[in-house]
Amino acid sequence: MSARFDIDAIRLDFPILHREVNGRPLVYLDNGATTQKPTTVIDAIDGYYRRQNSNVHRGVHTLSQEATTLFEQAREQARQFLGAAHAHEVLFTKGTTDSINLVASAFGQQFIKAGDEILISAMEHHANIVPWQMLCERTGAVLKVIDITPNGALDMASFGSLLNKKTKLLAISHVSNALGIINPVAEMIKQAHTMGAKVLVDGAQAAPHFAVDVQALDADFYTFSGHKVFGPTGIGILYGKEALLNAMPPYQGGGNMISKVTFAKTTYNELPHKFEPGTPNIAGGVGLSAALKYMQGLDSATLQAHEHTLLKTATEGLEQIAGINIIGTAPDKASVISFLLDGAHPFDVGTLLDQQGIAVRTGHHCCQPLMDYYQTPGTVRASFSLYNNVADVQAFLVATQRAADMLS
Ligand code: ALA
Repeated sequence: MSARFDIDAIRLDFPILHREVNGRPLVYLDNGATTQKPTTVIDAIDGYYRRQNSNVHRGVHTLSQEATTLFEQAREQARQFLGAAHAHEVLFTKGTTDSINLVASAFGQQFIKAGDEILISAMEHHANIVPWQMLCERTGAVLKVIDITPNGALDMASFGSLLNKKTKLLAISHVSNALGIINPVAEMIKQAHTMGAKVLVDGAQAAPHFAVDVQALDADFYTFSGHKVFGPTGIGILYGKEALLNAMPPYQGGGNMISKVTFAKTTYNELPHKFEPGTPNIAGGVGLSAALKYMQGLDSATLQAHEHTLLKTATEGLEQIAGINIIGTAPDKASVISFLLDGAHPFDVGTLLDQQGIAVRTGHHCCQPLMDYYQTPGTVRASFSLYNNVADVQAFLVATQRAADMLS
């Protein structure tokens, strides 16, 4: 399929966009939380359960072989999506949170000891904070936090001053979920590697918006969630460099991850199976594969230009509304806007928007330390995706103006 980007045709691919909410056409702007699914994804999952459903990597029978082929095709699709060298460097997980916990557990067990330092940033999602705190509690390692500047950008001077020979791992979001800020991860990886530190990139909010190449980045680990890239929930990808994954112990024990089990000793399977115990989310893999294929069929430069137009139109429109303060104004942003309305609680703004058919997220966005930095309990967040159009942005601006009029 040649790359395309026709917004009207794209909108027809997503059935849910054509429903109403509270008597108004749905304007779905909570894409940072989860994205909607195109018909190809819905059909792939439906078709799998109708025709191939069986277990993978275990059966000689036809259905099992067909299911295994589909599941391994999904891995190959994800390898291509990330530009990884080998399919066995691509692990299926439950999602980004699961991936980070896997690395914290298995990399932590092998490579982290008391006095080592783990570096994160002040804008991280709880999923990229708490597993590291738990690892530090277990090992006596120390968690260090890179500051941000008032416009939401990472403070690179802070990064430079914290990075040192004790830093064993930098765990950093590619794009901030709460603010949409794009972090200079390529440069950070380069600097981290000069100190011998490994780098995990949380790509949950990047993969939906722009192409990622893990080899060009030289990331040691890169993870994203299926449901944020138009695939199903409960499935995600963890990329890890082969040598690192081979050096790490298994995360969980069970079937499929073993080579030989005796009561005296168990030996482990090769990659990727060593990290995939139990029956995996096969239908999820099939759905994710269809989602990645869908994204790869779109022209990524046009997609980015389209999302940039949505971001610019929304930002300029919000700036015209009295009492609105945008949080996170650094220039390099994905199509996400967090804002506050003077004197109004974010929940009240979100509720008034919902009454007008507009879905946004309100609250701390699983980033309580970041909200503490801005001294707010939460924000209103509009996160745009490739299927949103300028009419969605205009409806959002009209509804926000109305909410501001009612709450002022
Ligand atoms: N991490 C998701 C968000 O940012 C749920 O909304």
